[in-house]
Amino acid sequence: MKEVVIGFLGCGNVGGGVWNLLENFSKEIAHRNHLRVRVKKVLVRDVNKARSCAVPAELLTTDVNEVVCDPEISIVVEFMGGEQPATEYMLLALRAGKTVVTANKVALALNWHRLQAAAQEKNVGLYYEASVGGAIPIINVLQNSLQANRIGHMMGIINGTTNYILSRMYENGEDYRDVLGDAQRLGLAEPNPAADVEGLDAAYKLSIMASLAFHGRVPFSKVYAEGITKLTAMDISCGKEMGYVLKLLAIAKREGNTVQVRVHPTFLPQAHPLSSVNGSFNAIYLHGHACQEMMLQGRGAGDMPTASAVVSDILRAATAHEHIHPTFANTAEADPSLVFDDNWESQYFVRLAAEDRPGVLEKIAGWLARENVSIATMLQKGKADDGRVPLIIVTHAAREQSLRKALASFDKAVCTVESVIRVEA
Ligand code: NAP
Ligand code: HSE
Repeated sequence: MKEVVIGFLGCGNVGGGVWNLLENFSKEIAHRNHLRVRVKKVLVRDVNKARSCAVPAELLTTDVNEVVCDPEISIVVEFMGGEQPATEYMLLALRAGKTVVTANKVALALNWHRLQAAAQEKNVGLYYEASVGGAIPIINVLQNSLQANRIGHMMGIINGTTNYILSRMYENGEDYRDVLGDAQRLGLAEPNPAADVEGLDAAYKLSIMASLAFHGRVPFSKVYAEGITKLTAMDISCGKEMGYVLKLLAIAKREGNTVQVRVHPTFLPQAHPLSSVNGSFNAIYLHGHACQEMMLQGRGAGDMPTASAVVSDILRAATAHEHIHPTFANTAEADPSLVFDDNWESQYFVRLAAEDRPGVLEKIAGWLARENVSIATMLQKGKADDGRVPLIIVTHAAREQSLRKALASFDKAVCTVESVIRVEA
């Protein structure tokens, strides 16, 4: 039986899950893959910390060289998180001729070009299935199974923490700050959860997915990112009343060479397939010119779902005859043939606090019409404490910049803009 010797960089939520899966699944791995996977060294920050897995103390180290310079170790598996020192450690491993498996979307999205170049130079592998969508095999699907497609658009729920939070806010009207603590306790959130709730985690993942789907580099810097921190229970309940479910969506669209890449809270009709994806589940809904519509769904975060993707990568890396790399020119900058469009077309949910007197609606409709924005639906709620009324408008499809210009022209003495949320059909 072949033995593959591996080293860990990190041993927290994901690392603990990978250790446990390798331990509990070793008989099946030996039987199916004729492979024994042995973990030789585990880099951590604090060797005395209590861990969720029974890694023997003698394997733990705080010296990265014991992992990346050990000649017996052929695969280095990284789940430390953050851009640095994770990127430099992975580069050390690749340059030492070791294949790298990573769950780290930050390091990959920001330094993919450097990591891929180092891997190709040494003819070793770079595997990152766990970096996007947890257990969902979206990287493999984009890189292999959908090669015969021109992908026109993808809409994804690709952050488990925010989906867990929004699902609880939608179901029980809870406040996001209370639910975030539970997402952290469940091991869903990033080491710094601001990355989840500010939409950055989803933006890193979208940069990776869109690059693979569009066969050209879509850098993180081109992805518009807006998180969920400003959302209120009132927005969610008004949307619910109008037949919408609120999700943090990652959207990538391509028409010719024009590309849109954006992450923001989005209202979806209740009947949309993504609307029923709840809790820590992720899903990616896409359209290819040959495959047509497709939705992939699964657990997007958590120790075991993520370990599922990491361990599968380890097994693929250990048994591959040839390592596969993306074929597009992987550079720091955007693919020069792509044109990035930030004036996208969408419907908008706008919540206003408006004066309650005759003529107000006419004024608002006029300010919107001046910028070519027309109203599709309107909902007025009872008077608030300040004497103003909450007024919700859903527009017909309009251009982002027209909507922003129209809202900027509203007279604050008549109404103030309390929130703006995009609506996708
Ligand atoms: P975590 O629980 O905070 O674990 C991080 C691990 O890395 C810890 O063991 C920590 O050591 C070690 N570490 C961090 N910085 C280090 C340094 N400078 N030197 C040495 N060791 C260091 O994080 P996690 O939730 O497992 O996430 C890890 C990675 O997986 C991140 O890139 C994340 O985005 C990605 N990911 C997470 C999930 C998820 O559901 N959590 C899913 C998919 C991908 P100590 O234990 O000693 O502190
Ligand atoms: N914090 C991330 C999430 C982990 O909630 O989706 C999975 O990448």
